[in-house]
Amino acid sequence: MNILISAAALLILILLVIVGIEAAGLEYFFGVFIPYMAVVIFLSGIIFKLIGWARSPVPFRIPTIAGQQKSLGWIKSSKLDSPATILGVVGRMVLEVLLFRSLFRNTKYETKPGQKLVYGSAKFLWIAALIFHWSFLIIILRHLRYISEPIPSLVPLLQNLDGFFQVGVPELFITNILIVVSLAFLFMRRTADPKNRYLSLTADYFPLLLILAIAITGIMMRYFTKVDIAGIKTFAMGLVSFKPVVPESINVIFYIHLFLVSSLLVYFSFSKLLHMVGVFLSPTRNLSNNNRSVRHVNPWDKPVRIHTYEEYEDEFRDKMKAAGLPLEKE
Ligand code: HEM
Repeated sequence: MNILISAAALLILILLVIVGIEAAGLEYFFGVFIPYMAVVIFLSGIIFKLIGWARSPVPFRIPTIAGQQKSLGWIKSSKLDSPATILGVVGRMVLEVLLFRSLFRNTKYETKPGQKLVYGSAKFLWIAALIFHWSFLIIILRHLRYISEPIPSLVPLLQNLDGFFQVGVPELFITNILIVVSLAFLFMRRTADPKNRYLSLTADYFPLLLILAIAITGIMMRYFTKVDIAGIKTFAMGLVSFKPVVPESINVIFYIHLFLVSSLLVYFSFSKLLHMVGVFLSPTRNLSNNNRSVRHVNPWDKPVRIHTYEEYEDEFRDKMKAAGLPLEKE
């Protein structure tokens, strides 16, 4: 059911823009108004979330650790998996964000005949997630060519690396294959395994399908339907310089691509995709594990009126005496 709802939602988005462009001629609405609105919702949504997270109390130091903490001098501590210093935390975050270190440790479990539960390594999720995120980043960085003049030197460098195999005209970008295959794997692993299927919701399927559709419409533009790249560059430069122009030569496949990207931007701030910024604000990751060496004073600790034993005895001395209870002060 969740898969159907996600696929239906995606189909509705695509039909909406096809009808909007082909039947109603709403190029300006889908090409200018929607992208601008999407960027505003994306940025304000992220800022709103960041402020909310930054304001959330972190009363205790709760780094999750996966190694020996700093202790006595002769005990070897794990500087990255149980960081005692800011530098250790930075190192840990770099490994987390660039190489998904925690996911690398992911394990799977299954019951063998005779109901024996066995744990095993599950590296495919790590590999697929890494390939997907890096391809996504490289594709987006290569897209800078549409919104910058002169084009930063990073773009041709990435294009050369991505088109390394020099297959086809225009040359095939490796990331185009990698993003589709890794997204397909991330989707299939949720549908194929009953445990994952049971845990997966529309919020898990929809972003996968949406990004897959963005990639596929992009791939169709590049290798199959062909689009007026010069026209799209004029259009994209018009958007970023706030002097929007809508060339007539741009066909509907591009508007689908752009509308799906706009939908992703709007959906982003209300979805689990926020992990992109959330990971940096997660106290289990960004705190050093120095609880033994530094006394942690909870900054959010409200001054709590405490009732000392002395005050207690002063209040109940007579009753305690009557009950024959020992008193500190006679
Ligand atoms: C989440 C954001 C986006 C993703 C993931 C994405 C993905 C892709 C992919 C995978 C391709 C295939 C060829 C390639 O890799 O260059 C592509 C092509 C294309 N994209 Fe995007 N895209 C995004 C946003 C945009 C935006 C905002 C524009 C508008 C300026 C755009 C314009 C195009 C064009 C014109 C092509 C055809 C390129 C060619 O023929 O070589 N894309 N896109």
